[in-house]
Amino acid sequence: MTIPQQVQERAAWLRKEIEHHNYRYHVLDDPVVPDSEFDRLLRELLHLETTHPELISPASPTQRVGAQPLEAFDEVLHPVPMLSLSNAFSNDELSEFDRRVRERLDWQSEIEYAAEPKLDGLAISLRYRGGLLVQAATRGDGARGEDVTLNVRTIGSIPLRLLGKGWPEILEVRGEIYMPRSGFDKLNEKARKQGEKEFANPRNAAAGSLRQLDPKITANRPLAMVCYGLGEVRGGSMATTHTRNMAILSEWGLRTSPELRPVIGVQGCQDYYESIAARRQDLGYDIDGVVFKVNGTDQQQMLGFVSRAPRWAVALKFPAEEEMTRLIAIDIQVGRTGVLTPVARLESVKVAGVTVTNATLHNEDEIRRKDIRPGDTVIIRRAGDVIPQVVRVVTERRDASAREFSMPPVCPECGSELIRDDDKTMTRCSGGLFCPAQRKEAVKHYASRRAMDIEGLGDKLVDQLISKSLIRSPADLYRLDIETLANLDRMATKSASNLLQALEQSKNTTLDRFLYALGIREVGDSTARSLAQFFGDLQAVEAADMETLQSVSDVGPIVARQIHTFFRQEHNLEVIAELASAGVHWPAVEAPQSQSQPLAGLTFVLTGTLQRPRTQAKEELQTLGAKVSGSVSKKTHYVVAGTDAGSKLEKAARLGVKVLEEEQLDELLRTGIAP
Ligand code: IVH
Repeated sequence: MTIPQQVQERAAWLRKEIEHHNYRYHVLDDPVVPDSEFDRLLRELLHLETTHPELISPASPTQRVGAQPLEAFDEVLHPVPMLSLSNAFSNDELSEFDRRVRERLDWQSEIEYAAEPKLDGLAISLRYRGGLLVQAATRGDGARGEDVTLNVRTIGSIPLRLLGKGWPEILEVRGEIYMPRSGFDKLNEKARKQGEKEFANPRNAAAGSLRQLDPKITANRPLAMVCYGLGEVRGGSMATTHTRNMAILSEWGLRTSPELRPVIGVQGCQDYYESIAARRQDLGYDIDGVVFKVNGTDQQQMLGFVSRAPRWAVALKFPAEEEMTRLIAIDIQVGRTGVLTPVARLESVKVAGVTVTNATLHNEDEIRRKDIRPGDTVIIRRAGDVIPQVVRVVTERRDASAREFSMPPVCPECGSELIRDDDKTMTRCSGGLFCPAQRKEAVKHYASRRAMDIEGLGDKLVDQLISKSLIRSPADLYRLDIETLANLDRMATKSASNLLQALEQSKNTTLDRFLYALGIREVGDSTARSLAQFFGDLQAVEAADMETLQSVSDVGPIVARQIHTFFRQEHNLEVIAELASAGVHWPAVEAPQSQSQPLAGLTFVLTGTLQRPRTQAKEELQTLGAKVSGSVSKKTHYVVAGTDAGSKLEKAARLGVKVLEEEQLDELLRTGIAP
């Protein structure tokens, strides 16, 4: 059968493109496109080759594992090839894998798999002779890798001499070298400070660090290794399951995954995947999926290999966290505090299952450093709940006409002059309450739940009130009348009257809510609470000098400077006076300053569904001096668990954090005595 010309040309183009990306990724450690794009190209080529098998040639990138080794390192031949893994992207593909395994083994019951995370680093082979580390090699093209022994010897987690006894004369251990996220962040922070190029992600940082010709450089990089398999074994034998073999390696002083578990059948695999996916952000290192291996080594042997991967293992991948798209424009947003933030408007793209159309660009410096220009093709990353980021530009795809970005000369909202902070990372509008963007945000903040809690005063309504110049500051809210409100878009007499009632109710507040509502920079609700508790009344806060302010818990020099400056701005004092004359008031704070706070110094985390609203539980705890945090860590003292508590409860159990039921919380709030 002849292959259409078009298909032949497409396949040739795909091969060239894939080879190029392969070279950039594996040889230069400097990929041009994200993995997802590479996978897409490879899958398209695989598809063409499956439909037209005559297209397959030994030189096709689908027939090999990696790229050529770098010339500068010595070459190492792998006696047992270092292969890759086949991927599954859905439960159906996982079931399909399991079906093939059982069919080949002619196995009726469930298969036992060994499950472990798929670390996102680079594969390494360690050769021990007589228990001594004699060679370390990268995977290279699977048959030949690079000798990186000197570099690997600098990695603390790799033993130079095995512990215990009973190891085979020749033992080749395989695993992944990676960079933990904390080390990666520190490394990039250092690079940033020294004006050097940052690494795009921990995987690139690990690869770049290991493949250094000077081992001293590697020695200073926070690399780690986890073992996940065996290569050549001579002059001795190992056990008959993967899990047992890994346990033996760990007895010999090698690191294996603490997450390694035997699981039964597809259901066991799926449950494992879910539990790892839920904890992915807490693991401290990057993973891009989980790996399932038939646990029995006899069964592994029976299954054998296909061209590039074992038939007894599969990687169930997470949806890609990086995708490529076009940056249409860079817009400027002016925040409540007047900070100008550039925002990337993107051609919509799905990243890790969520459609993304905007990404934060932080500040002008970041745009310059990454040389991001409107019209560029960019790589977007969205990990966990983090706001999408522009990782970098695919400069290869840049149009010659793309112009560098520069900040506008004046505030795009009000035309006021701009002020740049000393470190030049922040640009602010000098317009203050004159700037509609700041006025809008100030009023929205004033009305928000943790501030004055004005029900019915939503963002859209505030936008209208400010745009139509019906109000300029929060104090003007109390001068609104029913006709004005009822005439606004999406308002009627009933909603207007409800809002007036809510405004009236908001006048009766507390000092800490009022302080928070003022929108002083750096003053969140918990600092506002500390201030109220410490000073007892507003006049004392207003009059406080820098030193006194810093005696309040949580208040350091930066926060103190903001508070001090705030109360020295004439227009701020005017707004406060207007609010007071509109009738905003609060009860005196009982026994300020010295009042003992029975739960001071204790950190609580609330999880699951509680009888009372969570905000209420939080406030009650904070009143007694406790801190309420959103995530469980070693520093958490108590987790309060309602019904259907999930991963936080699991984490508490793992870290040995004490768990309270809501009844115990009631008791504690009543008595102030922690159990
Ligand atoms: S087993 C013959 N287990 O993923 C089977 N690989 O995409 C060899 N990887 O080259 C691999 N974590 O570098 C295995 N727990 C794990 C892994 C893992 C990460 C890497 C490894 C391999 C690549 C294949």
